[in-house]
Amino acid sequence: MVTTVTGNTAMASMAMGNMVRTMIDLHAHILPGLDDGSHSWEDSLEMAAQAVDCGVEGIAATTHANLPGNARAEEKASYLRALEQFSWLLDSEDMELNLYPGMEIFAQGAYIERLQNRELLTINNTAYVLVEFPMDGPARDIYIGIDRLRRIGLYPVLAHPERYACVQEVPAHVREWREMDAVIQMNKGSILGSFGRGVQKTAHYLLTRRMVDVAASDAHSPWRRTTNLELLFQILAQNYGTSCPRLLLYKNPEQIVRGKKIFRPSSGDL
Ligand SMILES: [Fe+2]
Repeated sequence: MVTTVTGNTAMASMAMGNMVRTMIDLHAHILPGLDDGSHSWEDSLEMAAQAVDCGVEGIAATTHANLPGNARAEEKASYLRALEQFSWLLDSEDMELNLYPGMEIFAQGAYIERLQNRELLTINNTAYVLVEFPMDGPARDIYIGIDRLRRIGLYPVLAHPERYACVQEVPAHVREWREMDAVIQMNKGSILGSFGRGVQKTAHYLLTRRMVDVAASDAHSPWRRTTNLELLFQILAQNYGTSCPRLLLYKNPEQIVRGKKIFRPSSGDL
């Protein structure tokens, strides 16, 4: 049974000092005009403000890259331009938010070669790379993708596997992917039920069995799928203990942006 809390409860807990401002959000579409995320600099600044307000100190700007039909030759150059401009904007607004480079890379086509050529970017230029697989694709393709990425020395951070049909059918795949050194990134919306009951059930199944390494917003705007992680922190803490959100929202994201090994406590330790 999953406990839910109201925003007021979350706010009250924050006011009591339960939250320290050290969260890092590893998955957010915060740069404007490059994908289906933020539509303007104003929206991006509002997303940044919401992140800062709830205790986020860093955010990876993980724009969709190499999407079928949407890949552009100028993809990396436009991304880097937008990243630099947004970084400048955050500074000019005195907003204390670390901005990390990264892309949400779609696992199709020549993505391995493009990663090797550095046309596609890893998270903060580390060996961790945020990778999304087709929602209805076979599990076999994910095993192959992880294996190919590991062979070139990269560690895939699997974007929201709880949303994949093959994981909803057989959640145990996730255990094997972790054994192959893939990192499991779960979405805030999946845990809160925004993607339907099936996804939510799978999300909590995986959380209960300690098969998740990172939680992130996968934010797309200031109104829906936002950067606010406050309620997520509270729900994770109430259902799985405070060490759970600390691991998924603080410790492991920090290890990843630093290019260090993530923590995987045994279930008894968490
Ligand atoms: Fe995303």
